[in-house]
Amino acid sequence: MPDLPAAFYPATSPSSLSSADFGPGFHWGAASAAYQIEGAWQCQGKGPSIWDDFTRRKKAIRNGEHARVACDFYNRYETDLDLARGLGLTDYRFSAAWSRVLPEGTGAVNRRGLDFYDRLVDACLERDLRPWVTVYHWDLPSALQARGGWTNRSVVGWLSDYAQILARRLGDRVQNWMVLNEPMVFVGAGHLLGVHAPGRRHLGAFLAAAHHATLAQAEGGRALRALLPDGAQVGTTFSCSYLTPHRPGNGYDEAATRRADALLNRFFVEPVLGLGYPVAELPALRWLLERYQKPGDEQRLKFDFDFWGIQNYTREVVKFSPWLPLQWATLVPAKQRGVPYTDMGWEVYPESVYQMLKQYSAYPNAPKLIVTESGSAFPDVQAGGFVHDQQRRAYLQAALGQVLRARREGVDVNGYFAWTLTDNFEWAEGYGPRFGLIHVDYETQQRTVKDSGLWYGDFLKGSSADS
Ligand code: NOJ
Repeated sequence: MPDLPAAFYPATSPSSLSSADFGPGFHWGAASAAYQIEGAWQCQGKGPSIWDDFTRRKKAIRNGEHARVACDFYNRYETDLDLARGLGLTDYRFSAAWSRVLPEGTGAVNRRGLDFYDRLVDACLERDLRPWVTVYHWDLPSALQARGGWTNRSVVGWLSDYAQILARRLGDRVQNWMVLNEPMVFVGAGHLLGVHAPGRRHLGAFLAAAHHATLAQAEGGRALRALLPDGAQVGTTFSCSYLTPHRPGNGYDEAATRRADALLNRFFVEPVLGLGYPVAELPALRWLLERYQKPGDEQRLKFDFDFWGIQNYTREVVKFSPWLPLQWATLVPAKQRGVPYTDMGWEVYPESVYQMLKQYSAYPNAPKLIVTESGSAFPDVQAGGFVHDQQRRAYLQAALGQVLRARREGVDVNGYFAWTLTDNFEWAEGYGPRFGLIHVDYETQQRTVKDSGLWYGDFLKGSSADS
């Protein structure tokens, strides 16, 4: 794909930007997730997870790929952290693999698995990288899936116990914690659409899993806070996309957009604040949720997180659809709209992060916000030992410009984590889409910092990061 003209990065063209513009104390990081990078899938006592199982299913993953080796981060973490430090990052976000720590999901701890995260935390600190730990980034132990996984209400207790094991071991050194990564994605893609593990397509499973995940994010938050020292920051993360109607002004599309917003952007957030689920926009959910909601749950869903992690990649355009019985809304793919899109098929629309920061910060009692993921998948051009990725660089710059715009308008946003440090396993899409600031040759495991990574480094070091 040729380079996109600047006009494709709407309202975002600061000719120069520097990290100093964001003020002191802003967190500058990159994010990752255990299953996508670690490999070592059966090493040192690790138990299987639903992603180990799902990747074995025929046709589940593009080209039949899996992450048994991935970036071999389990053995190469020091190299990758050296690179992160070399770029000038101040923070690094990773998740712990539940079945590495607890092969059966509950019960006996696998000491060698937990030791790995201990070493990883120390390795971050040795390099002046603040570690940010995500408790759950989608890799449920298979043993728990056999007991119903997220559809079993006991998952709330399983997750809290696991969170406490991490907090007890790492809490003396890790200040920043996130309970869940993007519940709408693992619940929706995993239980309704069937495209992520555990590969279910069932409305009842979706609703049960959604309610249990909403409970688990709050209970997990309480479990962490009970054990962590004062000053530790307990958060959780949400996927979100700025939504606009396909035909602005058209009543049907506008209403469909409100329904999609309730489902995609508000569903997991509002119960945390004590606002309950957005049933006014999604009335069909009322009786379905009643099946899974127990007395007292509305209280249990609330938790005063220290921060919310905002994870944003694109905007979606919403159209009324008479065919979908629950939502009456459909998302119009970027390809059909004739707009530029990434290797994920997602519209190039960096302004989305600004819009979502505004939307979330408008809730009364919203905590501080951290952009815990933002990035883009574009093809890389390898030449003469370099990796040219002009589009990713432009996207990164544009997204940062949008975060700064929100901050200048008073949004309490305090960090930006690029997704992602190194190219990695992109779930159902396998190794095709590359999001990394650092290129990985999966044959040799060689790492090469891309132009986007070099640009981010210059930006962080305050040297001229001109467009
Ligand atoms: C969000 C997820 O947290 C991450 O695992 C994924 O790779 C990125 N989005 C890109 O799709």
